Amino acid sequence: MQTKINILFIGDVVGRYGRRAVKSHIDSIKSEFNIDFTIINAENAADGFGINKKVYNELEPCADAITLGNHTWDKSEILKDIEAMTKVIRPINYSDKSPGVGYRVFKINGIEIAVINAVGRIFMMPVDNPFYAVDDLLNSNKIRDVEIKIVDFHAEATSEKQAFGWYFDGKLSAIIGTHTHIQTSDERILPQGSAYITDVGMTGCHDGVLGFEKRQALERFLTYIPQRLNVCKENIQIEGCVMEIDTKSGKALSIKRVKKEIKD
Ligand SMILES: [Fe+2]
Ligand SMILES: [Fe+2]
Repeated sequence: MQTKINILFIGDVVGRYGRRAVKSHIDSIKSEFNIDFTIINAENAADGFGINKKVYNELEPCADAITLGNHTWDKSEILKDIEAMTKVIRPINYSDKSPGVGYRVFKINGIEIAVINAVGRIFMMPVDNPFYAVDDLLNSNKIRDVEIKIVDFHAEATSEKQAFGWYFDGKLSAIIGTHTHIQTSDERILPQGSAYITDVGMTGCHDGVLGFEKRQALERFLTYIPQRLNVCKENIQIEGCVMEIDTKSGKALSIKRVKKEIKD
């Protein structure tokens, strides 16, 4: 069995331009970093809001696991379709009564990898405590024998994300922040061996506001009148990170930011 595994994480894919960038460049990114396993956050993949079956089918060949976030339920058809989306993980700290699952275990080259999704609570919709929800999973039998555990912590406040990183240092292989769509430069290996970054950034148009038309976003801020937001298409970039994990201990060996400007 290989002694280490390279994992690629792609930050929030926004709309068709984000999807197009992923589809046309994922293979070259995977070969550049010798990637074994790929996680894509797709909570904004359908028109910027949620995911549906069509979009899932488009992204599914590019990813081994697909995580979501606060936009999970934006497309109503997801409620009936999520169970059939076998790579999708929605926040674990949503109600037990909601469809879908909060973690999945995948097997690549004989190596098991648990992928967990959780959402934060600061400046966000009220949900169960993400610290306890992930703790409960780790304390259960469900993934006890899985060495590699990656969480996508989808949260707004940098404080909550940092605290989450410290709390789970040594208990998870990596704590990868998403949701703010702005890549932070604080990637590091925490003292007990977990890879950490506050936010990996987003994939899509970078000449807008979080991937959406800047004029529409500005109107909202200037008038406080709700505006429909469309995804923008200028300055397309793919953002994410690459991690190297020791397969025996589950500890992270390295984490590197990825940022690709797409010219074509
Ligand atoms: Fe997002
Ligand atoms: Fe989000």
